[in-house]
Amino acid sequence: MIGTDVLKQQLGNVLAETNFEGLGAVQRGKVRDSYRQGDRRILVASDRISAFDCVLGTIPFKGQVLTQLAAFWFQKTRELVPNHLISVPDPNVMIVRECEQLPLEFVVRGYITGVTKTSAWYNYARGTRNLCGNLLPDGLRKDQKLARPIITPTTKHEAHDRNISRDEAIQEGLIDGETFDEAARMCLTLYEAAVAHAASRGLIFVDTKYELGRLDGKLVFSDEINTPDSSRYWFADTYAERFAAGEEQRKLDKEYVRQWLADRGFRGEGTPPKLTDALRIEAARRYIEAYEIVTGEQFQADLRPVRARVAAALGAS
Ligand SMILES: Nc1ncnc2c1ncn2[C@@H]1O[C@H](COP(=O)(O)OP(=O)(O)O)[C@@H](O)[C@H]1O
Ligand SMILES: [Mg+2]
Repeated sequence: MIGTDVLKQQLGNVLAETNFEGLGAVQRGKVRDSYRQGDRRILVASDRISAFDCVLGTIPFKGQVLTQLAAFWFQKTRELVPNHLISVPDPNVMIVRECEQLPLEFVVRGYITGVTKTSAWYNYARGTRNLCGNLLPDGLRKDQKLARPIITPTTKHEAHDRNISRDEAIQEGLIDGETFDEAARMCLTLYEAAVAHAASRGLIFVDTKYELGRLDGKLVFSDEINTPDSSRYWFADTYAERFAAGEEQRKLDKEYVRQWLADRGFRGEGTPPKLTDALRIEAARRYIEAYEIVTGEQFQADLRPVRARVAAALGAS
């Protein structure tokens, strides 16, 4: 594991945003900058971190961790379910097939948890028993395992994510039933594969968010899959004891940053607090730890100036 002294030195070597010449117009998401190239798309993972739908600053190596973890999962599961990945020309870059993205995000949950407004536990604790068309029994406790994984879709392309059921999504004309059901089957297959691998690494794969798109008429997984930005991972060995005691789980995802913000009174409204060096170093350490635990491989930190390296890999300036 990379030392905190190295992380400290790298606080200034981050990819905040790109504006490469020669790749066409940049489309900037919260975390990724992308460049459309005909039937392909260059997805550059910046080091930006977002939480509660706000971009907060940068974390060294975050773009590399996200890219390499997403690539790990895309490669590992490609025989099981199709995806958009073509190649990884740089630790921060995926070249993918351009897809027609479905207007829903598919959240798969094996446990009831979460404190944001679309989260299962947040809504359940306030009395909701029908979560996006899934009927939940009374008496569940925070972080409890569900009888079976459920899918709780949210809308995409709206200012803030909104929970929606299969039937509402069809009524609103966002998707047809056949497409929804096919996507849902694929999501459960990928989720179960992630659960099995995570278990072999001493982790619980709690929940995740998938995006799918259409490619030559077929549905494929796009965006990123099973990363610590899009998923929750808990340590398995302490799960039962902490659940029984009503304590917080030990987490391997970006909950650390959400908690840090919440402790300072920020949950998405108003101005976010400025990320301190100590927070940025600890968050980087945790992202790298997530990479190493999930993949079982040592993280290869690339210490070269990140912007110049990415530009060179893309033949851009
Ligand atoms: N294969 C693909 N084809 C087209 N768009 C894609 C593909 N993969 C990912 N995207 C889109 O690229 C963007 C990635 O940037 P991101 O920072 O995640 O944006 P956001 O702020 O919308 O979450 C998302 O809008 C995602 O839907
Ligand atoms: Mg995204």
